[in-house]
Amino acid sequence: MAPKKKVLMICLGNICRSPIAEAVFADYINKMNLTNSWEVESAALIGYHTGKGPDRRAMSVLREKGINDYCHKARPITEEDFHNFDWIFGMDEDNIDELESMKPNKSKAQIELLGKYDPKGELIIRDPYYDSDSAGFYKAYEQCVRSVASFLEKNTS
Ligand code: 4NP
Repeated sequence: MAPKKKVLMICLGNICRSPIAEAVFADYINKMNLTNSWEVESAALIGYHTGKGPDRRAMSVLREKGINDYCHKARPITEEDFHNFDWIFGMDEDNIDELESMKPNKSKAQIELLGKYDPKGELIIRDPYYDSDSAGFYKAYEQCVRSVASFLEKNTS
């Protein structure tokens, strides 16, 4: 059997955007019976939130959308991740700049904006961390749903 293709979702803190992206991707590959060929994780660019679960607003949006089984503890990205993963997705341009500057010489990972796959053309996944309500989390969720579906449609035969 061919090796699984591995995707790593990255954002600054790994408590809002990348967990939503990971949960959406995991839900999609489960529903489409693609777990034999795809794997997904998420991680942070900073270690500040290491060990914490996702923001409660992210979890409540996921639950409301029917994703009840997601659990995660924030972790920082490692050098090994660049060798292990086929794609590393950032949520905004700062994420991409940081990933490019950390990338080891022999990195196999393709580093891209997740929003590059959004058929609506919204390149930057909304950062809702500093918001006082949940609207930005719904927005980020919808962006992730569109981008993940179109990425997987493009990369599965
Ligand atoms: P995330 O959101 O990168 O989507 O998880 C943030 C989390 C933490 C911070 C900023 C954004 N922070 O500044 O600590």
